Amino acid sequence: MGCGTGVNLPYLAERVGPEGAVVGVDITGPLLNRAREGVVDIDNASVVQADATRPPVADADAVLGTFVCGLFEDPAAVVDDWCDLVGSGGRVALMDATATGTPLARPLNPLFRAFVAAGAPGSTPGDVLRAPFGQFDGPLSRRVEASRAALAARTDDRRYETFAAGFVGLLSGRVR
Ligand SMILES: C[S@@+](CC[C@H](N)C(=O)[O-])C[C@H]1O[C@@H](n2cnc3c(N)ncnc32)[C@H](O)[C@@H]1O
Repeated sequence: MGCGTGVNLPYLAERVGPEGAVVGVDITGPLLNRAREGVVDIDNASVVQADATRPPVADADAVLGTFVCGLFEDPAAVVDDWCDLVGSGGRVALMDATATGTPLARPLNPLFRAFVAAGAPGSTPGDVLRAPFGQFDGPLSRRVEASRAALAARTDDRRYETFAAGFVGLLSGRVR
């Protein structure tokens, strides 16, 4: 969900094998066009332009959302719907970036806030300069936390891994 340019799609297609199918969903046409070009030679992968908060597929064994839950108004509701989509036994996985809790990397959190500010729609240079001293990543972090809490509430067999000095977290779980 929110596959963007589709960088994950070839790996997912390989993982599910020829008997499986991977559908990349994104709302942004130009990004999805790049994803479409990327899967043109992959038989078991396709893309569809749609809103991931109202998934265009009726059934799936697993859902992966990378760096997208922080963009949703109500990420908990979206993750809940994704859990319904995969049903009992299905897997949902969320990868997102937040400020790090890794002690040695914490001094880099101000840089992370500036990075988030720089990428926010309508942000000004002043916002970016002020961001390290404020909580500019607050809304993003709250949404990511809400999505993770929603996933935790619906799943067992959870796995959590961090990458990039703790700035990126991958949480997955199997729906009860
Ligand atoms: C930061 S990019 C991540 C792209 C990709 N998942 C990756 O890891 O490279 C976020 C993507 O989410 C998409 N997106 C945001 N809101 C969406 C929605 N409601 N439905 C579908 N896609 C959405 C954007 O178009 C964008 O491609």
